[in-house]
Amino acid sequence: MKDQVSIQELQEQVSNQQSYKKWWKECVVYQIYPRSFKDSNGDGIGDFSGILAKLDYIASVGANVLCLCSIFDSPNDNIGYDIRDYRTIHPDFGTLEDFEALVETARKKGLKIILDLPINHTSTRHVWFQAAQQNPNSPYRNYYHWKRGENGKPPNNWQSFFVGNAWTKLDGSDDYYLHLFSKTQVDLNWENPQVRQEIYRIMRFWLDKGIAGFRLDGVSFISKNLDLPNHLIDNRHLATYYANGPQVHQYLQEMHQELLKEYDVMMVGEGLGIDLKNAPKYVSDERKELQMVYPFDLLEIDRPKNDFYGVRMWNLLEFKHIVNKWNRLSEHNAWNAIMLGNHDFPRMLSRFGDEGTHRQASAKMLATFLLTQWGTPFLYQGDEIGMSNIRFNSVDDYKDVWVKNAYEKLKKYNVTESAFLKAVYTNGRDNARTPFQWSDEANAGFSDKESWMSVNANYEYINVKDEQKDANSILNYYKKAVRLRKVNPTFVYGDYVDIDPYHETVFAYKRKLGDDSVLVVLNFSRKPTLYVLEVPYRFYYRSLLLCNYTDREEEKGPELSLRPYEARVYRLL
Ligand code: NOJ
Repeated sequence: MKDQVSIQELQEQVSNQQSYKKWWKECVVYQIYPRSFKDSNGDGIGDFSGILAKLDYIASVGANVLCLCSIFDSPNDNIGYDIRDYRTIHPDFGTLEDFEALVETARKKGLKIILDLPINHTSTRHVWFQAAQQNPNSPYRNYYHWKRGENGKPPNNWQSFFVGNAWTKLDGSDDYYLHLFSKTQVDLNWENPQVRQEIYRIMRFWLDKGIAGFRLDGVSFISKNLDLPNHLIDNRHLATYYANGPQVHQYLQEMHQELLKEYDVMMVGEGLGIDLKNAPKYVSDERKELQMVYPFDLLEIDRPKNDFYGVRMWNLLEFKHIVNKWNRLSEHNAWNAIMLGNHDFPRMLSRFGDEGTHRQASAKMLATFLLTQWGTPFLYQGDEIGMSNIRFNSVDDYKDVWVKNAYEKLKKYNVTESAFLKAVYTNGRDNARTPFQWSDEANAGFSDKESWMSVNANYEYINVKDEQKDANSILNYYKKAVRLRKVNPTFVYGDYVDIDPYHETVFAYKRKLGDDSVLVVLNFSRKPTLYVLEVPYRFYYRSLLLCNYTDREEEKGPELSLRPYEARVYRLL
């Protein structure tokens, strides 16, 4: 009873702070990789009708915003992120009418949709680039970055994120075009006001279809240092050189003025190369740019700089340091996103948890982390049932252009396929792109036919159908954790304090809003740990709100005997 009253009071307190209260702070986002979510027409590829059929499922998890990875027409060199036409839906997913029906049905179920929009580059097959390539005098030439080579060499030493030089020469000329990603993803010249207007018109087209915002793919790269200096060959991450160009904030403010101020939207920047020094410029409320960016240093914690195929050991102290650092954005009247994975990273469970003995506990502990942290939580499809990494036997089974390019290069250095595959098993993006596991039926219930990418064989025991039946499943725990966040404003608007930043295996933090305080204690290791609450926390009465072990009995004293990956959320009384 006490809890109910206090929640009501809190909700009132928050609703008094109207200007601070925003729907995009309170929502829980569910990110979908449409190609692998649900196939409805038996072509082995996920589509809009598939998503439509699963809206009730998504609503049952408790998410209320869907973020769709790129859905636009594309030759699929980099699966959907090389856009041929921004106003056309990729035919694999359906038609514009199907999309409109999806938005409308989702709206009726209380779900908003945001779209992932690659604005830094188009496909080489886009009509703008086709015109620019065919005719140096075309007005479209200036839509991209061109430079003459010198002595048969590219204009500078910039490398692309997807292996190889970032400049490609046009056949039959000395002109090179710039591409920070694959050579079929040409960088747009945002210095050209016409390019910016084109993008704003495209955004308006989709906003007027009723979407609630965008994830802006590659946003930190839209402005470049056009002196094009060679960069040092050192071990810094490539993004350090390319991100946060001189005009980026001017462009984002212009985007707001010309367009976004007319809509109540959520704009999420892909944060590659954005760190806490420059993040406030992107997300402080008064700057009117974006609402949130992804903390990339958290997503890349286990990745060595400039070496996609290496592995870097990480520890919880670093992890906490990164989280705590980003949470200081709150001091800048700013907001942020919190996530541990998406379609560009291996599975969250495989990286931060334990796929084996402690699969259940660790997946639930990570859910507890995401849903009790500061910032808007992004859940990635399949994490809510504990999907894990894949191991294909041959490089040919992988679809990712990054994997293919890297293998081509490494083969020249006599790297064997099996050695290469070991690295892909840990780092490859396709780990998170395998078809969603709906049931233990053929093709994991994803499709009636063979799917575009093989399903993970563990679908026989990791699938929605089984998890729905089991009250203690990962899925049912997610539902509880999402609900906890949604009914308690403290998890959204509460202050955040790490109460023990130097503990090597336990992440313990407090959220506080008005008179309400909650304490989250997470054992990030497989070791049972006796965790002792210090002053003043040891003196509070506690009531357990959530725990990932069902047989947990209330412990009264200051000592918490945490089992492997145990997660507890308390209200402090
Ligand atoms: C980020 C996207 O999330 C990723 O999938 C894509 O490959 C790159 N940007 C390039 O567009």
